[in-house]
Amino acid sequence: MGPKKTKAPDLHVTIAGVEFATPIWTASGTAGTGEEIERHTDPSKLGALVTKSVSLEPRPGHPYPRTCETASGMLNCIGLQNKGIDAFIAEELPRLQRMKTRAVVNIVGNSIDDYVELAKRLDGQDGVDLLELNLSCPNVEKGIDQGSDPSWIGECVAGVRTVTKTPLVVKLTPNTNNIAALAVAAEQAGADAISAINTLVGMAVHHWKLSPRLSNVTGGLSGPAIKPVALAAVYKIVRAVEIPVIGIGGIANGLDAAEFLIVGASAVQVGTAIFRSPKAPIDIAQQLSDYLAQMEVESVSNLVGRLEA
Ligand SMILES: Cc1cc2nc3c(=O)[nH]c(=O)nc-3n(C[C@H](O)[C@H](O)[C@H](O)COP(=O)(O)O)c2cc1C
Repeated sequence: MGPKKTKAPDLHVTIAGVEFATPIWTASGTAGTGEEIERHTDPSKLGALVTKSVSLEPRPGHPYPRTCETASGMLNCIGLQNKGIDAFIAEELPRLQRMKTRAVVNIVGNSIDDYVELAKRLDGQDGVDLLELNLSCPNVEKGIDQGSDPSWIGECVAGVRTVTKTPLVVKLTPNTNNIAALAVAAEQAGADAISAINTLVGMAVHHWKLSPRLSNVTGGLSGPAIKPVALAAVYKIVRAVEIPVIGIGGIANGLDAAEFLIVGASAVQVGTAIFRSPKAPIDIAQQLSDYLAQMEVESVSNLVGRLEA
């Protein structure tokens, strides 16, 4: 018997007025600006490429060791290593412009002024379809306090909103006791979408050396371990805001992606799974398509928010 043979389901989604070929994007920091993806696979099959966070000044990141494997995920304390906005515009943006995929540029700052300046510099640049504000990285001094304070988020998003017409996605931290309040603050200040979640603060210990496994002692936990936390965050956020939500956390196959869409995410990002296979997001899009065909759902947008709860 097997599933009925019908037309392939439509995977297109529209977020903030921008159309994406699929709802499966890469997550920031796990696909650089596309160089590896380009080498191993066809980037035009990605829903979007989300770049590594770029800051105003170059950042060297934390010393090694800065990644470590855990039972069902990984810890990292990369520390937002990047070449800074000048080098990004001169060297990385041309690749994004050449690649036939949507590009989401992720920015990170130490202060609201930094975010505003970064958004100004990127406004009107070809090849920047959306800006994602990383307001959530737990590895940066002060980041954890700022990113879990709704009033700071509101001020930051409002500041950025005044200097750019590019649609804004606000990426939230799960290291808070009220992620929905953070999303509401972002929406009220003019965000076009919310993405959640960034990594959870975690730690691993070397039992023979009696030392932390990461140079920075603590780091960000990602991968399958965080999927239930991420699903619950998306569940809470979609009930609190009207703008689209992009789910992130532990997605490793098409059924994981489907779960986020059912809960109400309009798209998802894939991070840690890319370290196993650079073509993970493309495989996941195919698996999602197979699932939709089996479920006899014609368009992926018809799955969004179908949770019966
Ligand atoms: C090695 C590594 C580097 C990351 N760097 C960034 C970053 O620069 N900016 C950012 O917003 N998120 C960064 N993240 C967080 C991911 O984008 C994502 O939110 C998180 O890993 C959860 O998704 P996953 O479980 O699919 O990996 C990074 C994650 C990893 C594993």
